[in-house]
Amino acid sequence: MINKRNFIKASLFFTIIGISSFKNLLSESNSDFSKSKINKKIIAKTGQKVPSVGMGTWLTFDVGHNTKKILKRTEVLKKFFEYGGELIDSSPMYGTSERVIGKCLEKINMPYKLFSATKVWTPNTWHGKQQIKNSFNLWKVNKFDLIQVHNLVNYEDHLENLYELKRNKDIDYVGITTSHGWRHEKTIDIMKRYDLDFVQFTYNILDDEAEKYLLDLAFEKNISVIANRPFKGGNLFNYTSNKKLPSWAKEEGINNWACFFLKFITSHPSITCAIPATTNVIHMEENMKSMYGFIPDKKFRKKMKSYFKEL
Ligand SMILES: NC(=O)c1ccc[n+]([C@@H]2O[C@H](COP(=O)([O-])OP(=O)(O)OC[C@H]3O[C@@H](n4cnc5c(N)ncnc54)[C@H](OP(=O)(O)O)[C@@H]3O)[C@@H](O)[C@H]2O)c1
Repeated sequence: MINKRNFIKASLFFTIIGISSFKNLLSESNSDFSKSKINKKIIAKTGQKVPSVGMGTWLTFDVGHNTKKILKRTEVLKKFFEYGGELIDSSPMYGTSERVIGKCLEKINMPYKLFSATKVWTPNTWHGKQQIKNSFNLWKVNKFDLIQVHNLVNYEDHLENLYELKRNKDIDYVGITTSHGWRHEKTIDIMKRYDLDFVQFTYNILDDEAEKYLLDLAFEKNISVIANRPFKGGNLFNYTSNKKLPSWAKEEGINNWACFFLKFITSHPSITCAIPATTNVIHMEENMKSMYGFIPDKKFRKKMKSYFKEL
């Protein structure tokens, strides 16, 4: 476990890691990025580094047995890895998404580093254990990096089980999730009472409720934060259609709104990772490119928020 002092240092500054290992994987048109640096964040409880943009799979990877769509998602996932992505978030709640992730991972024949994050989501404790076994089979992994209690459902019993899995080294990290600004009081209570490694909740430039308390508490308790719904389920783009990016953002290499929204989130000192979801390779490319280069500071983040609110 890293100490408080190191955590504060680590959380205040991104870890800039060279990406020479990704050089060969990036295509000609991406060559600028092959020379650039990827922004990683520190997982507070261990010091492990993780890229600041991951991938969500709700709806986007729930494509059943449709071979054409599975091939398309494989391309999306390949792009994710090519740009240095690692953390994939899923859940048994997301229909066939976990199965599709397993299929896509199998199809991608390249050296990738995966940070596997799924959830347990059932009111029944016994069923939760079966659900987790099923997730191992669907993803085809021997170990999960992270399992989270989805939407706090039956969290007391599931957390006990997750701690046991962690003791047995079947998983590395334990977490809880909520979203849409729901159940913040309960989330705060659990964060205070349990030894959590991760907490996941909604945080984006518009849904900033977490700034009131949750983000500070996570920082204080050394709990790493995954920001879900970074684009408000895609709705943020409705505010920006036909709206130009400000020149001061472009000057810093922020060339599209996805990059603007993601940099706003991932530059927050308490945030470990944002997990945008997409079905589109071009969108994946935009999202992953936000992980490189300029990192907004507090003043710049404030400017971003004021600009967006005045659109
Ligand atoms: N309680 C929980 O645990 C919980 C709750 C909610 C979400 N989550 C997690 O968080 C993840 C993300 O949240 P979300 O899926 O609700 O929404 P989101 O990531 O905020 O938005 C997804 C939408 O944004 C669009 N999009 C993505 N990249 C884009 C780009 N570069 N340009 C334009 N549009 C873009 C996607 O459409 P295209 O397909 O066209 O790109 C999709 O419709 C989920 O997938 C899930 O893993 C967890």
